[in-house]
Amino acid sequence: MADSTSRFAPIIAGVRAIYGNGSIPLHRPVFEGNERQYLVDCIDSNFVSSVGAKVTEFEQRIVAFTGIPYAVATVNGTAALHVALQLAGVGRDAAVITQALTFIATCNAIRYCGAHPVFIDVDRDTLGLSPEALRRFLARHAEHRHGQTVDKTSGRRLAACVPMHTFGHPCRIEEIVALCAEYGLPVVEDAAESLGSTVGSRHTGGFGRLGVLSFNGNKIITTGGGGMILTEDTDLAARAKHLTTTAKLPHPYEFVHDEVGYNYRLPNLNAALGCAQMERLPEMLAIKAAIAARYAALFATLGIPFIQALPGATTNSWLNAILFDSLAERDAFLDYSNAQGVMTRPIWRLMNRLTMYADCQHDGLENSIWLEERVVNIPSSVPDGALPSMTP
Ligand SMILES: Cc1ncc(COP(=O)(O)O)c(C=O)c1O
Repeated sequence: MADSTSRFAPIIAGVRAIYGNGSIPLHRPVFEGNERQYLVDCIDSNFVSSVGAKVTEFEQRIVAFTGIPYAVATVNGTAALHVALQLAGVGRDAAVITQALTFIATCNAIRYCGAHPVFIDVDRDTLGLSPEALRRFLARHAEHRHGQTVDKTSGRRLAACVPMHTFGHPCRIEEIVALCAEYGLPVVEDAAESLGSTVGSRHTGGFGRLGVLSFNGNKIITTGGGGMILTEDTDLAARAKHLTTTAKLPHPYEFVHDEVGYNYRLPNLNAALGCAQMERLPEMLAIKAAIAARYAALFATLGIPFIQALPGATTNSWLNAILFDSLAERDAFLDYSNAQGVMTRPIWRLMNRLTMYADCQHDGLENSIWLEERVVNIPSSVPDGALPSMTP
């Protein structure tokens, strides 16, 4: 262990140079703007639930920031995914292509629709769905039958593809969208982690037919709990709002609902937090970029691969990640760093290893397994009170 200690100590020193002594969390929220004021405004207005001016304002702020024409606020990112998948046409017994290297919500939302995830491999550099692996899978499995794309092996309709921008790093979304278009597959982009990340001049979440964001407490900005459905399609946006507000027909006092909808609308209180957080987002992104640049320099010196955005893309640097040489080294580092109060964690266990998804079809997942054994997230919060000095 002496060897690994000498290799790991400079990493811990580098983390402490940014975050100081004491216990360091992986990612914590920052409430240093108008959060309190907007919450009080909300309470004073009596509009604390899912009707209120802050919900609309928060949606408008997301539209203005991302440049994606429509944004519909939901109670969380999982609910946003659930409804986005339905709107993309995912229904019972369909198959939905996604990555096994993702957070559980991606798969759960597919299952809520009664559909079956199909796991395709990721790229080692982006940690996101691999267009090459997708092309191989579709060439081997997809067949056009009666106006539908069907998986020849399972006999299931291939209803959608859900790529995910892991830790904020954009996947090769343009290639994925182009490929899916060849096969008539709608793309639902899981951009839960990538608010602020772009490919070319376009924001992630805006490439697919629909995209989703999350504002969970661990994300780059938070509403406590919250999510957003993104789309440039006027009709889909209207359907998203209708389905997430119990499918209630507008009326001053009657309760008439025209389908089975969901109580998924974001409460005004949460949206109030979101509005205040959005005011600080550009500053947060600059600080996150500065932290990532410091880490990149450190890990270049140490010869440890540090995950970064592809050329032509920008990452929000939400959660920084490094790669170890082996599972044994990864585990030794996790033990070492956490014992010292520096919180680190491995990437998610592959979805097909979990009981609920163990039977799902997959393509062998070579890169996903390789990454699962090596990736570690390191502290990535905006440091306490150090905002101006971190701005590049
Ligand atoms: C990749 C991914 N998808 C979906 C979600 C679901 O978001 P939420 O926690 O807001 O339901 C999250 C985050 O939590 C996520 O990281």
